[in-house]
Amino acid sequence: MATILAIETSCDETAVAIVKNREVLSSIVSSQIELHRIYGGVVPELASRQHLEIINPEIDRALKEAQLDWEQIDAIAATCTPGLVGALLVGVAVAKTLAMLHNKPFLGVHHLEGHIYAAYLAQPKLQPPFMCLLVSGGHTSTIHVKDYGKYELLGSTRDDAAGEAFDKVARLLNLGYPGGPVIDKLARQGDPQAFKLPEGKISLPNGGFHPYDFSFSGMKTAVMRLIAKLEKRGEIPVNDLAASFQETVARVLTQRSVRCALDYGVKTITIGGGVAANSGLREHLLAAAQKHELQVYFPPLKLCTDNAAMIGCAAAQHYNLGHSSSLTLEVRSRLNITKVMELY
Ligand code: KG4
Ligand code: ZN
Repeated sequence: MATILAIETSCDETAVAIVKNREVLSSIVSSQIELHRIYGGVVPELASRQHLEIINPEIDRALKEAQLDWEQIDAIAATCTPGLVGALLVGVAVAKTLAMLHNKPFLGVHHLEGHIYAAYLAQPKLQPPFMCLLVSGGHTSTIHVKDYGKYELLGSTRDDAAGEAFDKVARLLNLGYPGGPVIDKLARQGDPQAFKLPEGKISLPNGGFHPYDFSFSGMKTAVMRLIAKLEKRGEIPVNDLAASFQETVARVLTQRSVRCALDYGVKTITIGGGVAANSGLREHLLAAAQKHELQVYFPPLKLCTDNAAMIGCAAAQHYNLGHSSSLTLEVRSRLNITKVMELY
């Protein structure tokens, strides 16, 4: 049994959690959304400063809520890649310092591996292999989880991430930031068939289309053109546009991730990232899963969005396998998920 204190500061959430294998003992997440809202997106320098200001009180709170002291912590973990370098540095520097101070192992964790581990927290009996559809503001990937620490990246976005596409379309419609939740809400009152939007298929040199990759920038541009056209005619049917956009994104994400599962003979699909909250995506995936006799797990939303519990759970698995990171491990803005073992 590994008890891990984990820190997540890769973007705009400052999070600390204590996890015992696949059980969350405490989890504190402080979102910076309000700080960045007026800029319409995350400002990296502001994010780092805010992490620095609140990380220490959060660590104290996490220990207090878990009713543990340092003696009972086996290792200290922090997200070290991918993410905003300045933001990652805060969490990693704090984790390394605590590891030295308390004489505990340090583990650097890949943020996307963390997102995958949300499913293990939600379903402690879950075992690989399975397919993870990761859809957040920064990432859109379909990852084949072959075994612990063994990943194959099957599909990824060629341009915008799914959440980013929601955010950009919301901005075009003057709906504010973040865009996903508001588009989701308006879509429920709109007609998903009102407008036909491109599905972002990626052409291959030998003809045909890439079976797993995504592209969302064309959808966004199509919405922009539609808005310009509709503006000339008078009122913009915001609900119908939101519904049509959401329907297209949900259909594409579902089709391509189900295709991955079927092609690789995997029976389970798990979801991670903030877009997992999307009601259209949930409906599409559940219907497709039923049709193809697949199982779909949606972890609770608080585990899907950025948090430190998922980082702690991934670190616990690595710790139990005898892995630890060097105190000279550096943060990296990017690292392919297939290379996670480079961190240990
Ligand atoms: O995972 P997350 O909290 O942060 C990272 O990007 O790492 O994801 C945030 C993204 C935002 O782009 C937001 O618009 C989107 O998730 N999102 C949604 C919904 N709730 C959040 N997108 C679609 N539908 C939602 N209900
Ligand atoms: Zn994330």
